[in-house]
Amino acid sequence: MKKRIAILPGDGIGPEVCDAATKVLTEISRLYKHEFEFTYGDLGGVAIDSSGTPLPEETLSICKQSDAVLLGAVGGPKWDTLPGDKRPEKGLLGLRKELDLFANLRPVTIYDALAEASPLKDEIIQGVDLVIVRELTGGLYFGEPRERRGVGEEEVAVDTLVYSRKEIERIVRKGFEFAEVRGGALTSVDKANVLESSRLWREVVEEVAKEFPEISYSHMLVDNAAMQLIRNPKQFDVIVTENMFGDILSDEASMITGSLGMLPSASLSQDGPGLFEPIHGSAPDIAGKGIANPLATLSSVVMMLTYAFQMTDEAQALSEAINDVLENGYRTADLTQDEKTALSTVEMTEKVIDALTKKVVIS
Ligand code: NAD
Ligand code: IPM
Ligand code: MN
Repeated sequence: MKKRIAILPGDGIGPEVCDAATKVLTEISRLYKHEFEFTYGDLGGVAIDSSGTPLPEETLSICKQSDAVLLGAVGGPKWDTLPGDKRPEKGLLGLRKELDLFANLRPVTIYDALAEASPLKDEIIQGVDLVIVRELTGGLYFGEPRERRGVGEEEVAVDTLVYSRKEIERIVRKGFEFAEVRGGALTSVDKANVLESSRLWREVVEEVAKEFPEISYSHMLVDNAAMQLIRNPKQFDVIVTENMFGDILSDEASMITGSLGMLPSASLSQDGPGLFEPIHGSAPDIAGKGIANPLATLSSVVMMLTYAFQMTDEAQALSEAINDVLENGYRTADLTQDEKTALSTVEMTEKVIDALTKKVVIS
């Protein structure tokens, strides 16, 4: 059956890693005889430049008519001085809200071959397998009022951290459901010693836990969680947390794998199309050089195949192909000290495609 995929390359390295993804998807369609139809849309800085707004109506409608959305990244210095609601990032936030993508899954998977790429010791990272379930459409990112008022010494800036019981309930339930599927445990991360929203969060966790009597769960304060992720990441299985904490903890957790260029994500709603994107940004410092690591985006394609299309064989083959290229010693610049052997984005993508083709043709 035909699958419609909206492709939003965005800014900086976004187009480079999206190219990698469409090449791999095209190879999957050839190998498994699927039809993937790509429709491109502008989001972020490119959209500001082409139509004066970070989330054009046309882009939103392309996404709504699709079975899944693939996003590169948005943002960059060119647009950094624009007012908050005109920035590229506002386009991404608007898209998450419009598609009601409240559940953001950020798995942290360790590849044995990458042990030495991580700044953490081998014995700390071996066997880590955790997923951060981040609330994505509430909290500080969306709360009102959000404003600047007053002038000079009197000037103040306001952001609002607000969560409704309903918003907390649905993400916490997702957290428990994931823990159930993985046969694991849940850690709910909050700041209940200070924040009222976190105290409500804890109450709701206690209530939802009653629906999952067989799942063990605990609460952890976010500052401690940030430390524990480095001290002993193996203690975690599923972490459920609010929007801002999840943003920060997932960048931190990426270093367990060795690079921010490795971590994928899936953002899901109750029933509409999901959005799949690397957790990293537009990396202006390396944009245009052709050296970005495409693996976070290719792993996001694995998540798309799994969650949007239920193509489990295809997802497994791609995930194994990524593992194979790493086992064979192929590295992009972010994963090695040895500049001479580092592969470009295009070369790394070709290695993954070769490994995938071999795997599927032989099996
Ligand atoms: P960043 O994630 O873009 O980059 C942080 C560092 O990681 C940089 O040194 C970069 O070179 C490196 N890096 C990131 N992805 C990489 C990859 N695939 N391969 C190799 N190295 C990689 O974060 P930043 O520099 O703080 O933000 C830059 C811009 O990106 C900002 O405008 C920010 O708002 C935006 N951003 C967008 C998203 C998104 O679209 N989802 C996410 C994060 C940041
Ligand atoms: C991410 C990014 C975004 C976020 C920004 C670009 C709005 O950092 O996807 O992690 O904070 O959610
Ligand atoms: Mn982030």
